[in-house]
Amino acid sequence: MKVNINGETKDMRSVWMEETKIMFIDQRQLPLKLEFFLAQALEDVAYAIKDMVVRGAPAIGAAAAYGMAQASLLEMDLNEAASQLKATRPTAQDLFTAVDYMLGEISKGAKLKNSAEEYVNSILNKCQKIGEHGEKLIKNENKILTHCNAGALATVDFGTALSPIRLAHQNGKKIFVFVDETRPRLQGARLTAWELQNEGIPHALIADNAAGHFMQKGEINLVIVGADRITNNGDFANKIGTYEKAVLAHENNIPFYVAAPITTFDFSLENGKDIPIEERGQEEVLIIGQRNIAPDQTRARNPAFDVTPKKYVTGYITEKGIITAEDISSLRN
Ligand code: MRU
Repeated sequence: MKVNINGETKDMRSVWMEETKIMFIDQRQLPLKLEFFLAQALEDVAYAIKDMVVRGAPAIGAAAAYGMAQASLLEMDLNEAASQLKATRPTAQDLFTAVDYMLGEISKGAKLKNSAEEYVNSILNKCQKIGEHGEKLIKNENKILTHCNAGALATVDFGTALSPIRLAHQNGKKIFVFVDETRPRLQGARLTAWELQNEGIPHALIADNAAGHFMQKGEINLVIVGADRITNNGDFANKIGTYEKAVLAHENNIPFYVAAPITTFDFSLENGKDIPIEERGQEEVLIIGQRNIAPDQTRARNPAFDVTPKKYVTGYITEKGIITAEDISSLRN
């Protein structure tokens, strides 16, 4: 992704490994500061995932793959490392896909640093293909709604939902992106808007509850979101608020697409009701900046994800092409 450092544009990934160290763009600090977080040990990697230094399902998977490689270089117990990493965030399927892939590599006697790089390169490849397939859905003059951040930050580079948008812009299509702010962690306002600004893609930030208004006015032609976990029948979990955007899109006859690599599909679950939904601390809802926004006795609930039933999904943009819920079983193997 393009990143501006001291007036110079650089190409950068959101996570990478240098010798035994794992480096992250610290996504908690954006867009105010571009800072880096250095993970020297497994506890740092687990903290980075849990505290959302790195977030977005495929990037969490990449962090975990590198975490396993680091643990092997530091001669740690790898089953213990796998359990620690898996305990960080429960919803993102890519975390489990990546750790299980690395455990499989151990049993083949592979060098885990190489395996982790292969895993990450395959994510980048998948995201590029998602871009190529999804770009065909975007017409000149389209106005597209996206929720949360399913961009390069969330996938090491390119993005899932943002990959087709990036490519459409590069191909000269005139497009406009509506960015949901995405309370409470503001991934839309802080991260998606930052990526779109860096790429010069026209966009507007909207309050989370404004999407219905713009849909009703005919100002949104297409919705593309990412996913944290997609089950066999096509139900999927994504950032809290996705479900209501899908219902609104359906009500307003607007195509609603989910962009995700196969690493996000959980073939062990039949439908969305069994997806574990992470509930985060109430302070994320109660405090904005340093300020408490509610009376001091008020408590909050903070589910980080919701489940959207498959009936609201027009199609799934994967590296293998754009598919419907009925085609999901063909992705297994
Ligand atoms: O809590 P987050 O920021 O990790 O949630 C991220 C999302 O919900 C993304 O939409 C999803 O992981 C897809 S990222 C390509």
